[in-house]
Amino acid sequence: MPVRVSVLKEVAPGEARVALTPEVVPRMVKAGLEVTVQSGAGEASRYPDAAYALAGAKVEPDRATALAGADVLVKIQIPTIEESAGLRPGTVVVAIMNANRNLDKVAKLRDQKVTSFALELLPRITRAQSMDVLSSQATVAGYRAALIGADLCPKFLPMLTTAAGTVRPARVLILGAGVAGLMAIATSKRLGAIVEAYDVRRAAGEQVRSLGARFLELQINAEGTGGYARELTEDEKKQEAEMLAKAVAEADIVITTANIPGRRAPLLVRKEMVARMRPGAVIIDLAAESGGNVELTQPGTEIEVSGVRIVGPLNLPSQLPFHASQMFAKNVEAFLKLLVAPTGGLVTDYTDEILAASLLTRNGEVVHAPTRDALAAGK
Ligand SMILES: NC(=O)c1ccc[n+]([C@@H]2O[C@H](COP(=O)([O-])OP(=O)(O)OC[C@H]3O[C@@H](n4cnc5c(N)ncnc54)[C@H](O)[C@@H]3O)[C@@H](O)[C@H]2O)c1
Repeated sequence: MPVRVSVLKEVAPGEARVALTPEVVPRMVKAGLEVTVQSGAGEASRYPDAAYALAGAKVEPDRATALAGADVLVKIQIPTIEESAGLRPGTVVVAIMNANRNLDKVAKLRDQKVTSFALELLPRITRAQSMDVLSSQATVAGYRAALIGADLCPKFLPMLTTAAGTVRPARVLILGAGVAGLMAIATSKRLGAIVEAYDVRRAAGEQVRSLGARFLELQINAEGTGGYARELTEDEKKQEAEMLAKAVAEADIVITTANIPGRRAPLLVRKEMVARMRPGAVIIDLAAESGGNVELTQPGTEIEVSGVRIVGPLNLPSQLPFHASQMFAKNVEAFLKLLVAPTGGLVTDYTDEILAASLLTRNGEVVHAPTRDALAAGK
């Protein structure tokens, strides 16, 4: 029996992405998989049912028929309680689970005895790069953030020499030069702005400079494990705040992307710093979902404080759903290769480092220890 992979239409408000796109279907079918898609699953990201059918997928009218007989369910976001209720024990679910924010839904996956993999838990190792949804979606978010900044900024970004005078280029400051930050730098540079960036990992400096931006340096290197940053000490935080206050005051657009895995995002822009900015300046806080890098951010809305607009966008990748879905689908395709045995059927041995790290629930248990502890603590 071929492995049947199901794709559902996402139900979270504002979610326009889809977990598999028609592009990956022929390769999956060739590899012996059967792909079933709920009608309308790709509509919001501009992949019509007909494109899936042409690619070799079966299009089913509703959720129940799309899920019937599914061995694997692939989704962008963690299944809702209702979606999980339709899953047979032993079904494999692959999605971005954001487990610590969705404990009730994780508990439901556990209770349904499904085998779930959380894509955000993939180890950041070379072999997992092709599956890395955090990187692919952060690329989209960084690009969108730069465009939102340019759109809201009352100035041109490039320098212009015109008959009506010379226009000075806008100044863009990027805080956090990881995947999203580097994309925001590259996009702002292409629009002609003067770009500065800051990160606590010194290794980011070289990447920032290679994009033609200036790297703001502190005498700190907070490179932690796995390419991520560690939390700063109190003294380091003070040094950081002094340097940033000046850079923030001079910027026309500030894009913040700083994160520390498993923790609240570091607070980098305090309200005193915002008070020193020029009227018309714009802040885009990409860390809004994980607590915000900006003290005044209100997640999901835009506010104005003494002429400075502060935007706390949620789910930016969904604002560019065609390519965000395309990249996500390629990530999922690569991940599924680990799950399907060369002889057909699904592997049941999850000793592979990537599968072991991302396994969230199995056989009625929460396997991922921090999530299990959080559930036990009733958080
Ligand atoms: N498979 C892989 O090998 C792989 C995949 C993705 C990323 N990575 C590496 O990990 C790095 C970070 O990845 P990410 O973008 O997902 O990280 P992230 O989203 O966790 O954080 C974004 C950035 O915020 C920075 N940051 C944290 N605290 C800060 C502070 N107080 N001030 C300023 N900046 C702060 C981090 O150093 C990071 O660059 C990448 O640049 C890359 O080098 C490796």
